[in-house]
Amino acid sequence: MRAAVLHRTGDKTLEVKELATTSFGPGRVRVKVHKAGLCRSDLSAMNGVFPHPAPFVPGHEGAGEVVECGEGVTHVKPGDRVIICWMPPCDECPACKAGDSHLCRSGYANLAKPGFQDGETILPGMFGAGTFAEETVIAGYAAIPVPNDVPYEIAALMGCGVTTGIGAALNTAKVRPGSSVVVIGLGGVGISIVQGAKVAGAARIVAVDPTANRRELALKFGATDAVAAEDLDPVKQRLTSGFGFDYAFEAVGRPVTFRAAYDAARPGGTVCLVGVGARTEAPELSMLKMVSSEKKILPSFYGGGDVRRTFGTIIDLWRAGRIDLDSMITHHVPLADVNEAVRQMETGEALRTVIDI
Ligand code: APR
Ligand code: ZN
Repeated sequence: MRAAVLHRTGDKTLEVKELATTSFGPGRVRVKVHKAGLCRSDLSAMNGVFPHPAPFVPGHEGAGEVVECGEGVTHVKPGDRVIICWMPPCDECPACKAGDSHLCRSGYANLAKPGFQDGETILPGMFGAGTFAEETVIAGYAAIPVPNDVPYEIAALMGCGVTTGIGAALNTAKVRPGSSVVVIGLGGVGISIVQGAKVAGAARIVAVDPTANRRELALKFGATDAVAAEDLDPVKQRLTSGFGFDYAFEAVGRPVTFRAAYDAARPGGTVCLVGVGARTEAPELSMLKMVSSEKKILPSFYGGGDVRRTFGTIIDLWRAGRIDLDSMITHHVPLADVNEAVRQMETGEALRTVIDI
């Protein structure tokens, strides 16, 4: 079978080549990948912003069909349609037992588990998933079944960006009806936050991005206002008399945008950090200001809740036409052209590129 390989951290291009899968066995499943999405975190793992062992097979958004179940896997069977989940709930570790299955300890342990073999070399799939491949072997509980009316490409997007964004709005920040919201960064994650805030009944959704076409898109997905970063302060003055927004979301992953979100939130409001920055980067905040303004800083990881429940919510909203996931897919490429998907993300021309496998 064929897969895309990043040979060295920092390499710009992936090589699509013949590989074998490995480590199939008890508790694991083999999935034929049908659709994968390219997410910003793939680039972060490729360029070293996130530490990830290389070589590896990128791709952590994906959906496909179960082809083989290892011993003990009973919740799915061959032929089932599944989302390949990169932070799956094992239901047995302390995090799962504490009700925070999106922080699953076994999921963490799975992140760099080998899934592929290239001659003598054993290599992992990104975050234990490795969806830029015709076939991947994952932990059994990482294969989350979805109904057959959910197209593979929609299921693929739910594997990361959409769940991260909608979950941040609904599960973590719990946006209230009638509230005012600002979303900084309008990629797949930020646009999903906009959609989540709309579903929650926010009265104002201000979308912020330096790119004009992203701002235009955000208006189509439910934002009421869209501005460039330098116009955020004047908008805060105009809309809130300078007091600030009830909720401010950061969906870029940089200290400067976190700071912008912090400053945009009203005293007593919520600052929801969704973007993932580099390990060494940290925002600077005043101890005095943090306490005296009582802004609640709520980081949100992978949708901030049990993914099975969030997937179900997203499917219901999508079926009812209350969120638009189809229009988030702006481009398609075949696996052989995966480097074109990387280019489309780097130039910002694609909101989400789906890789047809
Ligand atoms: N202010 C506002 N927006 C910005 C700024 C800025 N200073 N700098 C960049 N952006 C915008 C980009 O123009 C782009 O539209 O942030 C957006 C990021 O979108 P994508 O690159 O598509 O990233 P996405 O997949 O949405 O992920 C966003 O969430 O999961 C994490 O690792 C991921 O940190 C990343 C973040
Ligand atoms: Zn992702």
